[in-house]
Amino acid sequence: MSTTETIYDRVGGYEGFKQIATDILFFHHQNPVLERRYGSSPKNDEELIKLVTELLCSVSGGPEEYTGMNMHDAHTGMNINHEEFLEVLDDIGLALEKNNVNQADTDRLMAMNYALKPEVLSH
Ligand code: HEM
Repeated sequence: MSTTETIYDRVGGYEGFKQIATDILFFHHQNPVLERRYGSSPKNDEELIKLVTELLCSVSGGPEEYTGMNMHDAHTGMNINHEEFLEVLDDIGLALEKNNVNQADTDRLMAMNYALKPEVLSH
């Protein structure tokens, strides 16, 4: 077993990231730029939280496998613009802050998410 601590360990593993994913979606629902994009049914929320949790775990040193679509296919045809992308990043930042993720890990997670921009934006 590795003794190197990962972001996944520091954030509190699957449950820690599940709380962060839940908070991201909560902030999206409050965000006037984004709320029209997300359905209001709890079932949709539950599925989306599961997939976002898996994605965050899998890029942070966790053993979970991401079972959703790749970022290009997941957002294809949605015509997502630059402003919406930045609002999503802002909400991710708020959720990390709410969950007391340290600055270095926040910087890494924000950079990893920012790098997805070309896959998520309008196509
Ligand atoms: C770093 C940026 C983003 C990440 C990591 C991300 C992640 C994800 C993931 C993991 C899914 C689920 C994929 C699946 O169904 O298999 C998803 C779906 C979705 N994303 Fe994103 N996303 C990002 C940016 C955005 C932006 C900017 C928007 C638009 C405002 C957006 C809107 C949506 C919508 C509407 C869905 C589908 C929800 C549903 O089916 O009910 N995403 N995203």
